[in-house]
Amino acid sequence: MSNQSVKPSLETIVALCKRRGFVYPSAEIYGGVNGVYDFGPLGSLMKQHIRKFWTDHIRKETDNIVFLEGPILAPTPVWKASGHLENFHDPMVDCLECKKRFRSDELDLEKPCPSCGKHNWTEARQFNLMFKTAMGAMADQTSDAYLRPETAQAIFINFKNVYSTSRVKIPFGIAQIGKAFRNEITPKQYLFRTREFEQMEIEWFCKDENRKKFFEFWLEARHKFYQEIGLKDENYRFDAHKPEDLSHYSSATTDVEYHFPFGWKELEGIADRGNYDLSQHTKHSGKDLAVFDEETKESYIPSVVECSVGVDRLFLALMCDAYAEEEVDGETRVLLKLNPAIAPITAAIIPLSKKLSEPAKKIYNSLKFKFSVQYDESGSIGKRYRRQDEIGTPLCFTYDFESEDDNMVTVRERDTTKQTRIPIDSIEEYIVNTLKKS
Ligand code: GAP
Repeated sequence: MSNQSVKPSLETIVALCKRRGFVYPSAEIYGGVNGVYDFGPLGSLMKQHIRKFWTDHIRKETDNIVFLEGPILAPTPVWKASGHLENFHDPMVDCLECKKRFRSDELDLEKPCPSCGKHNWTEARQFNLMFKTAMGAMADQTSDAYLRPETAQAIFINFKNVYSTSRVKIPFGIAQIGKAFRNEITPKQYLFRTREFEQMEIEWFCKDENRKKFFEFWLEARHKFYQEIGLKDENYRFDAHKPEDLSHYSSATTDVEYHFPFGWKELEGIADRGNYDLSQHTKHSGKDLAVFDEETKESYIPSVVECSVGVDRLFLALMCDAYAEEEVDGETRVLLKLNPAIAPITAAIIPLSKKLSEPAKKIYNSLKFKFSVQYDESGSIGKRYRRQDEIGTPLCFTYDFESEDDNMVTVRERDTTKQTRIPIDSIEEYIVNTLKKS
């Protein structure tokens, strides 16, 4: 078997995701919609596993963390206080000839339109990326609302609620997974920049004098996360922003970058935000968001260290990273070498023949509420193995005609194609051990 671990093109990943039911273009039967994607059966399972891996990982790093589910809609004052109404803009230009719209910071306006080749630009103007909507029956000013462009603000505006009801003490974190929406001018590079996406965010509240220490703590924790989820070392890096590139309230920001098929791009942002967010909400809401320090007998507004990663962007990075092609007996097999904890299907239960479906289904039923397993009975055995390789299934358990007599199955490993005979009653332990190694 020769290993041709290739770096896949984006087109290869897009095609595999569609072919195998990971990701579909949204509203495809109506011609599709730009910048929005639907996750199919396997994509949905894989996203569930990514969310769980992230949640478990932070709970491994610290016990001082609680979770929150805020709403997608929030009224205007929230976005005034957060600065999104005033500052969450991208510069935009239109081509007056073909009416295409571009981000002006991504173009040389001295040159013609990349779409129609003519040179007739509008003035560049600022475009707010938030989706605006009206809440309630009265479409007047008071009912304006916005779809959140990040999940973080729900954490900040609930800080005092959580602090006073959850028996948490500073330092502690509030974490949240949820949808965010940005009306990107030019959504692109597949799942990398979309208009609807999901974020996993941690806001860590601490005393000002401990900001630096906790920034370092989270840098290290997030480094371990990427190691453990299995991204190849050479494909991700930590890039600290230069002081002149920092926002006025941030004293440090580091991006985790991934080497996507279209270059090195941000995967996650880790930022020391100081007490900017809670101070802004204190000022705009008129509510006191300070906490009282029993030791110094002083009130203070906590500072925040934030870790923010997109589920969809991480999904794309994991797919690109895991993709491999290998020569087996003159044929190419495509496989996804995903961490078993992330793979959509952890194990496939395969009867060698349809005549064996009853006992094989019995095994499947005994496992289906414990693990992500799939029962797979159609097609030749070779084809079924290839299909499972291509969707990243680490283990296949095959029930054959001898199984009835010896109570054994053959386990086949995705990465090595090695096959071993094991007792049926040790399947569960085998899966647990495979997941433990991940
Ligand atoms: N609360 C901080 C925040 O939202 P951000 O850098 O704008 O910071 C954090 O976003 C992460 O969210 C990014 O690193 C990326 O993984 C993901 N993300 C942001 N915009 C996205 C988009 N349009 N499509 C997909 N993922 C996006």
